[in-house]
Amino acid sequence: MYIQVTNNGTQFHLTNGRLSYIFHVMKNGQLGHLYYGKALRGREDFSRLQAYHVQTGNSTQLDDDSAFSIESFRQEIPSYGKGDFRSPAISLRMPDGSHVTNFVYKNYEIKEGKPSLPDLPAAYANNKDASTLQIRLVEKRLKLELVLNYTVFHDLPVITRSVSLDNRGLDRIYIERLMSASVDFPEKDFEMVHLAGAWARECHIKTRQLQSGIQSIGSARGASSHHYNPFLALKRFNTTEHTGEVYGFNLVYSGNFLAQAEIDHYDNTRILLGINPFRFEWRLEPDECFHSPEAVMVYSEEGMNGMSQAFHDLYREHLIPKHWQKEIRPILINNWEATYFDFNEEKLLAIAEKAKDVGIELFVLDDGWFGSRNDDTTSLGDWKVNKNKLPKGLKHLAEGVRLRGLKFGLWFEPEMISPKSNLYESHPEWAIKTPGEHPTLSRNQRVLDFTQDEVVQFIYEQMAQIIRETELSYIKWDMNRYITEAYSSGLEADCQDEFYHRYILGVYKLYDRLTKEFPSVLFESCAGGGGRVDPGLLYFAPQVWISDNTDAVERLKIQYGTSMVYPIYSMGSHVSAVPNHQTLRHTPLSMRGDVALFGTFGYELDPGELTAAEQKVIEGQIQKYKQHRALIRDGDFYRLINPFETNETAWMIVSKDKHEALIGFYQVRAMPNWRRQQNVRLAGLERDWEYVVDGQCFYGDELMTIGLPLPEEFNGVNGATAKRSGDYQSHIFYLQLKGKQN
Ligand code: DGJ
Repeated sequence: MYIQVTNNGTQFHLTNGRLSYIFHVMKNGQLGHLYYGKALRGREDFSRLQAYHVQTGNSTQLDDDSAFSIESFRQEIPSYGKGDFRSPAISLRMPDGSHVTNFVYKNYEIKEGKPSLPDLPAAYANNKDASTLQIRLVEKRLKLELVLNYTVFHDLPVITRSVSLDNRGLDRIYIERLMSASVDFPEKDFEMVHLAGAWARECHIKTRQLQSGIQSIGSARGASSHHYNPFLALKRFNTTEHTGEVYGFNLVYSGNFLAQAEIDHYDNTRILLGINPFRFEWRLEPDECFHSPEAVMVYSEEGMNGMSQAFHDLYREHLIPKHWQKEIRPILINNWEATYFDFNEEKLLAIAEKAKDVGIELFVLDDGWFGSRNDDTTSLGDWKVNKNKLPKGLKHLAEGVRLRGLKFGLWFEPEMISPKSNLYESHPEWAIKTPGEHPTLSRNQRVLDFTQDEVVQFIYEQMAQIIRETELSYIKWDMNRYITEAYSSGLEADCQDEFYHRYILGVYKLYDRLTKEFPSVLFESCAGGGGRVDPGLLYFAPQVWISDNTDAVERLKIQYGTSMVYPIYSMGSHVSAVPNHQTLRHTPLSMRGDVALFGTFGYELDPGELTAAEQKVIEGQIQKYKQHRALIRDGDFYRLINPFETNETAWMIVSKDKHEALIGFYQVRAMPNWRRQQNVRLAGLERDWEYVVDGQCFYGDELMTIGLPLPEEFNGVNGATAKRSGDYQSHIFYLQLKGKQN
């Protein structure tokens, strides 16, 4: 039984043998939280988990029970105004200006599987994989109903949560905040882990000890952002990559979010995750219902890797488009860093031809193919071929690429408009702006008002036509600026704070239409690199260009950090030319390939500029990727050595049956006279099985306790003996169960 209802229908225990999540109906009818963590055996009554004994001079109380104070109880969906003074999960504004609500338990329903969320991306599951508990609460005075959705996955340490609010009354109300998840822990001794960064250095791992008060991350930029990912974890002080407890939270949403930890005066920790209440308000008319995005909660007893693997499994099996779950993703070449805006058909076909020779499968034409775009100052919104560059048209180019044996893909930036464009001339009112304010440019462009259906419809028609005409196999959907002067002429004054959420709903609407109509087109999301790396977009686009930074050294951190939450097979990772265009660093081609190998592989260079020797290296890289592609897609990923802490990085991916593994080891700077011997301790293998790697045999437990010896050149530069030396070295090991070698 994955959902146990006990104590006369007042206690709810979600469990799957890997976690337990327990809450109950409190004496005042509200829901109280009791426990979240390691799986517990079922019992009839868990009420003793409620901390009933706390009393203080000035806490709130019930009329007939002075010990009952919601100020000190853990809540399931804390609301404003009845005596819990911590940050609420829900806050409403009524027509009379009041804010107090009292949601009390009404009933519950259990469903096998998982209902979908209207208009929002969310994990999916069939009846055998998940069970859902829906709790209905009512606000009797205001005639509002709140439904809390909990889905427990049967084989993963995962619970998803979302909330919907139904207005059954006669008055409109305003939602000021409706967080997707709220969890109260009866302790404060955690470290908070999150991912932070900026353009070209996304998803760096940050860790800090929780302190009394509020600590939070979030976005108010109109996108989940390069700066903070909608992910937060609480880990124990002794939790490592491989051992210890951690609670992970991730929001399936691509817009403004808030992820917050609050330690109260009794040392309880409250986690809130949801749409950022800043610049959010939603007018809810009678008979209307508002749905929050979904929050994913992972509990791991197996350290940070255990948490990450649960996210990876969930997203691979229950979030990305079904079509792409087992489908091989093509190795691509993208012309951006090879040509930028300076190309013609001949140049592009030459790239395609060379790419085919080395084994590449998809050619992607990036920015600059439309309108009169020769730099980033014009034409966004004019999704018609740039006849000056491609006089024979896109279809002709696409056919030329296919004739050379590659698939054809194209770049779009659907949400944007250039002030210098035909679209702007005919529809200046479609560009977002606050009346009377000068619109702020960013990358010389403005944002289209995707809160308006006719705008989304117009862009849909342009894109759909090109997909059909050109028989596209792939689309890179870019988004290169954040939103300023947020306002829509299509919204009434008291609905302007709906803008950001409606904008993202517009983005989802366009994605939904295109992916449903063209399920075999592979979408790669991008927002100036990693400006929208989130599960909301993974639902539509199974891979994401996680950073514009293609430098192999920088990528170690970016890929390591991104893997905290997102599967490596969802991370676009390409080999580019040197000196690197973002850092001007020279790294060997071998290292660039070895880093990109752990992702969805591709190239971002002009193959015509390669020497014969480099071409050979690239052929080898591509063969290697093809050989291991299924392992990279399906395996369990382990972070082994942390680039944020050392000069080295190591990671590995192990097949689910533990028969094979691929290990990447990277050393940034060469160190003289460094050590006698270094081993990399592996993970995830079968202790008693014997494995073969580079012709040597090891037992699984040897590899996991003593480690895999590194080639001698990693033990310190020594001019006399080192085979390779210098900075930026890497090595890939492939390990197989003994007797299984090809
Ligand atoms: C930003 C993307 O991240 C790049 O890869 C490239 O597509 C440019 N935009 C094109 O303008």
